[in-house]
Amino acid sequence: MTQKNVQLFVPSFDVDACLAEIRICLEKGWTGIGFKTVEFEQKFSDFISQPYCHFLNSNTNGIHLLLELLKKTRNWRDGDEVISTAMTFVSTNHSILHAGLEPVFADVDESLCVTAAEVEKKITARTRAVIFVAIGGNVGEMIKIAALCKVRGISLILDAAHSAGSRLNGKDLSAYADYSVFSFQAVKNLPTADSGLITVQTEAENQLVRQLSWCGINKDTYSRSQDGYKWLYSVDDVGYKYNGNSIMAAIAIVQLQSLDAGNARRRELAAMYADKLAGVGSLRFIAHANGEESSRHLIQFILEERNELIEYLDKNGVGTGVHYRSNTSYPMYAKNQTPNADRLSDKIISLPCHLKMEDGDVDYVVERIKSFYQH
Ligand SMILES: Cc1ncc(COP(=O)(O)O)c(C=O)c1O
Repeated sequence: MTQKNVQLFVPSFDVDACLAEIRICLEKGWTGIGFKTVEFEQKFSDFISQPYCHFLNSNTNGIHLLLELLKKTRNWRDGDEVISTAMTFVSTNHSILHAGLEPVFADVDESLCVTAAEVEKKITARTRAVIFVAIGGNVGEMIKIAALCKVRGISLILDAAHSAGSRLNGKDLSAYADYSVFSFQAVKNLPTADSGLITVQTEAENQLVRQLSWCGINKDTYSRSQDGYKWLYSVDDVGYKYNGNSIMAAIAIVQLQSLDAGNARRRELAAMYADKLAGVGSLRFIAHANGEESSRHLIQFILEERNELIEYLDKNGVGTGVHYRSNTSYPMYAKNQTPNADRLSDKIISLPCHLKMEDGDVDYVVERIKSFYQH
């Protein structure tokens, strides 16, 4: 078989459509927070049926901002606890530490999501929130966890970095959480270059999140220009510089138009891998609990010979990934005990999944994996 090069993630852009949207910003001379960020917020808000969406420069900053907002409005104290997971990109947990809160990890099952029983075990008098990471677009026991949080009066935050366009029972996943934070980073399923978006519940939170993401200033430059550029503003908080800009929003507006179609294609790729690799070696496909409407940002398998297979595929032109190394491997999170996450972290592999892949690329990856097991 001729060697191919199949990368793990390759973002796709409708280049002409993106350039046309960016051109509008450049011709207008407005690339910062403003008309395009507002347009994207409105479009995304309609798409996910959430009333308050705020465009930001990343998910990482979005989680930090949200925790600071909740800390301020609900009188949380330094050291209060947020239940999270070891099976995530480390920035989910860094954002908890940045907010002066304590990350406490609940363990995962083979969906790679935390389970309701494990979350319940970790609840203490100091628990203020649970961050649920819908890894790869998988919802695991999210509905049970939402019910648990409601009964216990704990906020449920969805880390939606992988789940743009994921639905459960016909509703966007954000419908099951109190707050959601999306990522539109370079290789996500709605890729820009770097940006994100946060949803909040009330107009008061919406005002505050906008203020806190813009240095604590009570009116951003765009709102001021709308009122005839009033130069006078006040600074109510020591806020952050976390706002998104119109160039990223211009790209996001175009990307949103093909999000559903892209997710459908990812699910098709996942189904092909699952079918063709059934019974091969020790591979176990990670099915998604919302299989029909998962974003399928990741196509993951569990297997025994993980490191050897990664090396073999690498030599054969196939890019793979590990999502994720258990965060307990890093010194700042090492005191957490998550035996399942730690065990699975040594056995999971993510296979190539992107919209530039043809069916023949899946066949190539499958054939290489079979050849690995034959040798
Ligand atoms: C699960 C998860 N959470 C958070 C993030 C951070 O997203 P961003 O790069 O937009 O800050 C990522 C990015 O890799 C992620 O995979």
